[in-house]
Amino acid sequence: MSLVKPLALVTGASRGIGAAIAEKLASHGFHVLINYVSNEAKAIEVVNTIIAAGGSAEPLRFDVTSEAEIATAFEFISKKTQTTGAALEVLVNNAGISEDGLILRLKKESLDRTLQTNLVSAILTCKEAARLMMKNRKGSIIQISSVVGEMGNAGQVAYSAAKAGMIGLTKSLAKELASRHIRVNAVTPGYIQTDMTNALNETQKTAIIEGIPLGYLGEGQDVANLVAFLALPESRYITGQVIGINGGLYI
Ligand SMILES: NC(=O)c1ccc[n+]([C@@H]2O[C@H](COP(=O)([O-])OP(=O)(O)OC[C@H]3O[C@@H](n4cnc5c(N)ncnc54)[C@H](OP(=O)(O)O)[C@@H]3O)[C@@H](O)[C@H]2O)c1
Repeated sequence: MSLVKPLALVTGASRGIGAAIAEKLASHGFHVLINYVSNEAKAIEVVNTIIAAGGSAEPLRFDVTSEAEIATAFEFISKKTQTTGAALEVLVNNAGISEDGLILRLKKESLDRTLQTNLVSAILTCKEAARLMMKNRKGSIIQISSVVGEMGNAGQVAYSAAKAGMIGLTKSLAKELASRHIRVNAVTPGYIQTDMTNALNETQKTAIIEGIPLGYLGEGQDVANLVAFLALPESRYITGQVIGINGGLYI
């Protein structure tokens, strides 16, 4: 058995769903690259939690909206694969923002930021990761989309368009990369308790919970369990799929 741990890159892993995914992947034996943009202290906290649990991780800062920073980050990853012999086996495109508002109030800057952070970034990281994974003829790419990319939501035109775009990306890329044994899947979380949903007030949360058949909000851990399954060989025959994790909110 090789002692070299395969690499997994999780974007936006300093908090919320990304942090839970990073910890879960580390528990399955990956060396996890913890991407963040501004919250260095939180990213280091995630790294320390993983190391304390016997896993392996390191922080990797880059802004997913910057093509140049993505390129630099992947140069670093490429060098790491050459010096350690470890392959990049997993990419999780999780970094995201939501800026809500009705379309008549939508500002072009907000639209650009939302599409760049949630969608364009994912396409660019997929391009870089595919280059590395194709050499090894092995890999799993997982996009963290959203239930609103499937069912729509008033006040989230830009965000749901970006998340629906991730689904198109997933299906096309799965077809492009299947012959190289690289799988590409998307997960579509419903409402998960993180900083993103903490912005909702209690009245909004109560209304949302009333619409969820299971009757409660999900946790980062719920999404992490699904992502880990998609990252591991147990899911080897699953590609190009969009898997909901939403408590029954959208069936
Ligand atoms: N929470 C939900 O209910 C829910 C539901 C469906 C889908 N999602 C999706 O799940 C993903 C994670 O959501 P979350 O709720 O865990 O979000 P969150 O708690 O707000 O965390 C967002 C993460 O993204 C990172 N990030 C933001 N902009 C970035 C950039 N330009 N470059 C690199 N990293 C960036 C943040 O880094 P810093 O800490 O450095 O700022 C942070 O790690 C998002 O894509 C979101 O759209 C969430």
